[in-house]
Amino acid sequence: MMGSTANGSCDPSASRAGAGAVVDKDVDFANYFCTYAYLYHQKEMLADRVRMDAYFNAVFQNKHHFQGKVVLDVGTGSGILAIWCAQAGARKVYAVEATKMADHARLLVKGNNVEDIVEVIEGSMEEVTLPEKVDVIISEWMGYFLLRESMFDSVICARDRWLKPDGAMYPSHARMWMAPIRSGLGDQKMNDLESAMSDWYGFVEETENYYGVNMNILTKPFREEHEKYYLKTSLWSNLHPDQVVGAPIVMKEIDCLTATVDEIRIVNSTFSLPINIDRTRLSALAGWFDVHFRGSKQNPATCEIELTTAPSVENSTHWGQQLFLLHPALRVNEGDELLISFLMCRSKENHRLMNVDLTYELQQPSGKQLPAVNSKFYIE
Ligand SMILES: C[S@@+](CC[C@H](N)C(=O)[O-])C[C@H]1O[C@@H](n2cnc3c(N)ncnc32)[C@H](O)[C@@H]1O
Repeated sequence: MMGSTANGSCDPSASRAGAGAVVDKDVDFANYFCTYAYLYHQKEMLADRVRMDAYFNAVFQNKHHFQGKVVLDVGTGSGILAIWCAQAGARKVYAVEATKMADHARLLVKGNNVEDIVEVIEGSMEEVTLPEKVDVIISEWMGYFLLRESMFDSVICARDRWLKPDGAMYPSHARMWMAPIRSGLGDQKMNDLESAMSDWYGFVEETENYYGVNMNILTKPFREEHEKYYLKTSLWSNLHPDQVVGAPIVMKEIDCLTATVDEIRIVNSTFSLPINIDRTRLSALAGWFDVHFRGSKQNPATCEIELTTAPSVENSTHWGQQLFLLHPALRVNEGDELLISFLMCRSKENHRLMNVDLTYELQQPSGKQLPAVNSKFYIE
């Protein structure tokens, strides 16, 4: 039996995309889930020490949340979080996984002698029926810049159907951050674009000389295609903290216990970023996230844990940061402020990818304001 369709996200055969279009389940499986069925991909996450330490500490330093409790692990993957919950004393753990990784999770559960506690269920969270409500929902659902992948929809669906009224979410809170950045990556990408264009011009000339067809009419779309790829697609980056040239700001906060899909479908935020380094180049904005494990109001964590993906010398994560390149780069000074209007929506073609509409305007302490620039970006 299927559950409720709270927030429009629990329809088992289809889900709602950003613009309201219905997402085909098979297409979603081919585009999104298939990679999670591979151990090499799960291993990338399992080898991320910052991520692993945060979840490990969140569970084992808050054992009172798990001892004798019923837990649901949404998207168990290899089963690691479910196994930890069992080791921390859970009475029962339902470990739901959409892909064939469920078979490996079952093996791992058995190999670690917790098969009496952890029940691996292969299926989509939206379709699965549990025999009881749960005390805790644990999930690692975060994508690049937090919301890419839109997996939090499935956690919300699980929460609305299966979490007891006084239950706790692990993690309990999430935040999206943004900061001004100096980086050579913009120049590098511009060079890549120019070299692709010069290659294209040679190709146009040769094609005309050898085959008698003038391809020049396609120069504009070729350039647009490459601009999208090199300049307008956000870039994964592992930034050094020295590259951050102004105070980062929180642009979105999510309470995992109460958030709705409507609240996360669109991120619309206006804010200003103060520059705190003199005579530098502002060449990008960087977005990242953190999540917190604070338990619930009725049952707070004894030890709050934070998992941050901020630029770091020693504690970088596989999520890194997402860079949005500013073209051309701006010469900035301490005291300048960048006024930002940021709008992130889901892509119409694939609700797990994001489109960003960014307008920025530099304001100098003298009151002088440079003309506003609008750029579109794709988080793919
Ligand atoms: C980021 S991985 C985390 C895996 C594991 N929990 C860990 O922390 O190592 C997310 C997992 O959730 C699964 N998943 C995503 N959406 C799901 C859904 N709606 N139902 C069931 N599994 C889902 C994916 O297939 C993937 O294995």
